[in-house]
Formats: sequence, structure tokens, C-alpha cells
Amino acid sequence: MSDKIKVALVGFGNVSSTLIKGLEFYKTSTEGLWHPNVAGYTLNDITISAVYDVDAQKVGKKISDMVENQKTDFGNLIIQSGILEDTIPQHIAQNGQPKTMSYAAFVESLKKSKPDFVINLISSGMERSSEKYANAALDSGCSFFNATSAKTTTEHMKKTFEANGLMILGDDLMSQFGGTAFHRGMIDFMTSRGIRVQKAYQLDVGGNNDTKTTMAEEVRERKRQIKTESISIESPTPFRSTAGTTEYAEQLGDSRVSYYWMEAKGFLNSPIEMDLSLRTNDSTNGCNVIVDCIRAASKSISNKELSKADIISSYAFKNPPKKSHIREGNKTFEEVFVK
Ligand SMILES: NC(=O)c1ccc[n+]([C@@H]2O[C@H](COP(=O)([O-])OP(=O)(O)OC[C@H]3O[C@@H](n4cnc5c(N)ncnc54)[C@H](O)[C@@H]3O)[C@@H](O)[C@H]2O)c1
Repeated sequence: MSDKIKVALVGFGNVSSTLIKGLEFYKTSTEGLWHPNVAGYTLNDITISAVYDVDAQKVGKKISDMVENQKTDFGNLIIQSGILEDTIPQHIAQNGQPKTMSYAAFVESLKKSKPDFVINLISSGMERSSEKYANAALDSGCSFFNATSAKTTTEHMKKTFEANGLMILGDDLMSQFGGTAFHRGMIDFMTSRGIRVQKAYQLDVGGNNDTKTTMAEEVRERKRQIKTESISIESPTPFRSTAGTTEYAEQLGDSRVSYYWMEAKGFLNSPIEMDLSLRTNDSTNGCNVIVDCIRAASKSISNKELSKADIISSYAFKNPPKKSHIREGNKTFEEVFVK
């Protein structure tokens, strides 16, 4: 492994461009960074080696033409075409015939730029493309990080990556302080105070492209299932909960509003009812977690401690192979990687 941690970004949307802005900004500041130092690395230790997309309006462009109002070290990188195995969302298809390359060409391209990690940040609902990207990472000797809700991090894939000295991390990034993390945190707090949660729901409204993509019924259903399961872990007793992306509202831009309702019981079954709303920015909310994972995984791989993938995935994803309570996941991650 070279001195810097090299990553290839697959899918150049909101999160990728925010990550690039962050790597530039945090060269000289630590303001807003959750963990400035993880496993001995700062953000200056991360570099981008390649970027891929399939949107006809993005492929072939320089990064510097795509990241607004920001100079970046990676400005001269050109967005290359990617693999496409699913139906592309309409809002991308309308930009022209998607630009793609073969699986073999993609593997060759990775072998050339030699990233340590392939970070999968493609649109929601791209199950087969995400699976192909995971396999391509493996075939080219790179670790894989799946931010999307596609199921890539199975026990079988974990073992296969491990057998090759690599890690696969996923699935479905859990933002630092997004709808799911906040919901889980509220239930954890109520439970820790002896309050019994009975019923809850979370309705998310957002205005970015990923929310638009999530309006497709099967994508929405998949995400609802992952969020609902992820939240249910926090309560010691089963309760009725529903959580999911409910509506796309363009006027919200990259922000997301989550509306929560919870019903719980205390002493003598006295009722407690809560109505809350939380407004956050989607892409920035994901980036602290991404940079933490890359650094923690990089150190674990170079120390040949590949089983630490479970600690990293439990901390960073809504649907990891081994699920843990949110408080426990954070605590273990910090004990192991944040000194
Ligand atoms: N906090 C967060 O933003 C957050 C949290 C959890 C999960 N995620 C997931 O991360 C992913 C990225 O989010 P985003 O807001 O940047 O999405 P986005 O819609 O802004 O960008 C996705 C990009 O992927 C490209 N793409 C689609 N199919 C592709 C393919 N087969 N190969 C290469 N590129 C492809 C699209 O053209 C687009 O540029 C989404 O799946 C999202 O659900 C994000």
C-alpha cells in the first residue's frame, strides 16, 4: 500500500463531490470533523485516484468542471464511464445515452490507477451494478465500500475478500446525524431511562437526486425495510415502527427533513408522546462516516486485522453483517480506532 490511501469513487453525485470539497477544506482545518485522527491518519492521507459515472453529461468532464466554487487537487481527473447492469433512473437517462464500459475494461482501469478502495456511491436501486462493482474491486485487488442500499456485503463476499487480504464494508451508509441515526439515538435514550417505546414512525422528505431515485416503489420499499430493521435493534422489546423516504420535494435541495412520531410508556403505563422534526444536509451528513471508515479500514488491512471489518461496518452502515446498538457501535469504533 502506498503512503496515501487511494480511493476510486464510483458514482459522481452529491456525496462524491462533497467528499472532494471536504478533502480540500480539511487540509488546513479540523472544524466540523468528527474524528480528525483515525488510526493515525488525517484527511491529508486520503487521495482520489479515479472517478467513474455513467451520466452522459458527466463522463469525460474534469472534476474541476463539476465541483462548484472549489479548487481541488483532483481537478484534472477525468470522470470515466462505468458499468451499468440496471435500468438507469429517468432523470439520468434524459441526459443522453448512458456512457458505459465493459466489466473487463473497468477491472483493467482499476488495475492501472491501483486504488486501495473502491467506494460505491452510485444511485439507489442499482443492485446488479453494485454487485458487479464489488466483484470488479475484488478482481483488481481493491477493497470495497458500499454506501448504497444494494446487498453486496454478504458473509460469502466477506470471506472471499478476506481470503485475498482485502475488506468489503457495507451496506447502506448510516449518516452521522441523519434520520436513522437520530431515530435510533432517541430510542436508545428512552430505553436507557426505563421508558418503553410502543409505536413509532419516521417520514423523510428530501430534494436531491437520490431522493428522486428513491421514489421508484421497489427502491423505496427496500430502503424502508432496511431503515425499519435498523431502528428496531435499539429497543429491548418489539414495537411497531415504520421508517422511510416518503416524498421528493425539489425545493429542499440537498436537505432532508425527517418527521418523527413516537408513543411510549413510563411508570403506571403513563403515556409519553413525541412529535419532532429534524432538518439536515444529506451529502455532508455522510462524509464524516466515509472518511472514518476509509482510515480505519486502511490501518486494519495493513495490520492484517481483517476481522475488524465487522466493527467498521457496525459503526457506519444501516445494514451491516453484524448489527449492534448505535451506542455500542460508536463506542467500540472509537476504542479501537480513535486514540
Ligand atoms: N448521507 C448520504 O448522502 C447517504 C446516506 C446513505 C446512503 N447514501 C447512498 O449513497 C449513494 C450516493 O448518494 P448521492 O446523494 O451522491 O446520489 P446522487 O444521485 O447524487 O449520485 C449518484 C451518481 O451515481 C451515478 N450512477 C448511477 N448508476 C451508476 C453506475 N451504474 N455506475 C456509475 N455511476 C452511476 C449517477 O449518474 C449519479 O451521478 C446513494 O445510493 C445513496 O442512497 C447516501
